Amino acid sequence: MKRFLPVDELARDARFAWIHESERTNDPRSGPQNNGNYQRAPRFSPDDEDSLDRARGLMHGIFMGEVQALEGAGRTCWDFDTGAGEHEAPYALKLDMARQCWDESRHVEISIKLAEWMGTEIGEFGEGRGLYQAACNPDPALRLTAVNRGIEGLAIDVFATMRKFGQAAGDPVLTFCEDWMLADEVTHVKMGSDWLRRLTADDPERRERALEFQRLVDKIFSSAGRAEESKEDARQFRKLAGFSDEDIDEAHVPLAAEEERAARLALVAGSRTVAPSR
Ligand SMILES: [Fe+2]
Ligand SMILES: [Fe+2]
Repeated sequence: MKRFLPVDELARDARFAWIHESERTNDPRSGPQNNGNYQRAPRFSPDDEDSLDRARGLMHGIFMGEVQALEGAGRTCWDFDTGAGEHEAPYALKLDMARQCWDESRHVEISIKLAEWMGTEIGEFGEGRGLYQAACNPDPALRLTAVNRGIEGLAIDVFATMRKFGQAAGDPVLTFCEDWMLADEVTHVKMGSDWLRRLTADDPERRERALEFQRLVDKIFSSAGRAEESKEDARQFRKLAGFSDEDIDEAHVPLAAEEERAARLALVAGSRTVAPSR
């Protein structure tokens, strides 16, 4: 089996359409305020008639993220030789990734049942593949920083928001699905925080580079713009997942536009430059 499977070779059937992340986040069904960052998505309320449609689109995006998180964690078990070198993965890391595969498989199944419950068809919304592209990083420490600490940190925000929406709407199915997935994601984010330190424990220079990357990732995915009512949840869950208050405060200091662009490119630097076929 091939190592470092390129993003355009993921196995998908005819239901799935791969589109640019920008096209996906600009889907008009996601609402006019959506600007590509879930943290800034408008609030969800049972009193707002657009909320259900926006929630369906958001949870379809999460479903695709679960599929790619499963693929990424599986690749991390396979792409690297077992060992302690910079381009190797220790056996204990592979065990964590195997556990994550188990969790993500369950999340895919939960997401499919939740989609049915919400009246969504698989493939009704396009698939962006940013998560998998971040999971192509050739350095396992940076791979886990980008995917686990960064993108799954953002997923925590979505699950916490949707859990509240489910409670407010009196929908126990949505509420329990979000609650169960949220619990696992906190563990996955913590793996990202912990493995950066463990993998770089004996290499100060590698540690420095990894922490610099982590600082940028935190700014992209754990930064300002969150709605007032979800800010405290976001902080508490991140603290459970290995962030310090200083990390979170630092993430709120914005990057200049050019730096942010460079940081987003660095996030997917390990992925082959290919575009969706349509
Ligand atoms: Fe998940
Ligand atoms: Fe996860």
